[in-house]
Amino acid sequence: MAQMLKVLCLFLMFISFVFFSHVECANLDGATNVKILLEVKKSFTDDPQNVFKSWSVKNTSYCSWHGVFCAGKVAQVVGLNLSSVSLSGSISPSISLLKNLILLDLSDNKLTGPIPPNISTLTSLSSLLLFSNQLSGHIPPELGSLTSLQVLRIGNNLLTGTIPGSLGNLKNLVTLGLASCYLSGPIPREIGKLVKLEDLLLQTNELEGPIPNEIGNCSSLVQFTAAVNNLNGSIPDELCSLKNLQLLNLANNKGYLKRAVEGLAKDFNEKLHAT
Ligand SMILES: *[C@@H]1O[C@H](CO)[C@@H](O)[C@H](O)[C@H]1NC(C)=O
Ligand SMILES: *[C@@H]1O[C@H](CO)[C@@H](O)[C@H](O)[C@H]1NC(C)=O
Ligand SMILES: *[C@@H]1O[C@H](CO)[C@@H](O)[C@H](O)[C@H]1NC(C)=O
Ligand SMILES: *[C@@H]1O[C@H](CO)[C@@H](O)[C@H](O)[C@H]1NC(C)=O
Ligand SMILES: *[C@@H]1O[C@H](CO)[C@@H](O)[C@H](O)[C@H]1NC(C)=O
Repeated sequence: MAQMLKVLCLFLMFISFVFFSHVECANLDGATNVKILLEVKKSFTDDPQNVFKSWSVKNTSYCSWHGVFCAGKVAQVVGLNLSSVSLSGSISPSISLLKNLILLDLSDNKLTGPIPPNISTLTSLSSLLLFSNQLSGHIPPELGSLTSLQVLRIGNNLLTGTIPGSLGNLKNLVTLGLASCYLSGPIPREIGKLVKLEDLLLQTNELEGPIPNEIGNCSSLVQFTAAVNNLNGSIPDELCSLKNLQLLNLANNKGYLKRAVEGLAKDFNEKLHAT
């Protein structure tokens, strides 16, 4: 009997170990969430609207803090929206510790510094909005592992370097906003893998080379703007097979593309409406 109890006890211990270690893996406790959020707060150096007033160790109801959105029994942080509140400073890499985050919106502030590459570990992220700041450096190729992303808007920043081909792995992407930066190099062919993409916004950069034919594989495309770049070559015929395309702006580019856009705009429009 005692032997059986011992075995039962060991079994229960094993079960609870498996169960709780699993729970710990998916959920962060309240104290941990408070700690991470306060760490994230540290990198925002100026807060003229005092939105971080509520973010304090004295007030541990973090789900009621400005811009914090929670879900679940063990309130997990699923959203962080601190858009348009004039924040300065940088984006803390500690944001990557909020592993249940679905929405991150830090758009329209005065944030500087890089996009932390380890944001790419937030695999539940569905919207990443960092547009209209002064973020610099490259687009981290690691962002290609955020396969739940539907909206990626990081334009109107000081970003340089090329558009990583890895963004072609974002198979759920509906909106890709990279306009008004200093991005150079080609439009990667991998863009053609984004079959759910509706809005591709690349205008006002320093992109060069031809528009890849693979763009014709983006069958959901509604809006494609790549005006004010250094793109050359011809307009791929494949663009004409995009039946959902409503807005195409390729103005102010180079060479043949420039002439093609000017000369054939009318013809192209007719073709577009005919298909
Ligand atoms: C914590 O902050 C929230 C949001 O500002 C506020 O509604 C709440 O009353 C505060 N709780 C305490 C205990 O101060
Ligand atoms: C974030 O908050 C702002 C201001 O309240 C709002 O306009 C914006 O739509 C929110 N962002 C998202 C992605 O819901
Ligand atoms: C994120 O990156 C920074 C800088 O590379 C590093 O210090 C930090 O430990 C990383 N955080 C996570 C959660 O990986
Ligand atoms: C287009 O531009 C690229 C790089 O800027 C250049 O190498 C290539 O020769 C150009 N092609 C045409 C057809 O002008
Ligand atoms: C994408 O487009 C290219 C060139 O138009 C074509 O050769 C290729 O088969 C397409 N890929 C897919 C996956 O549809």
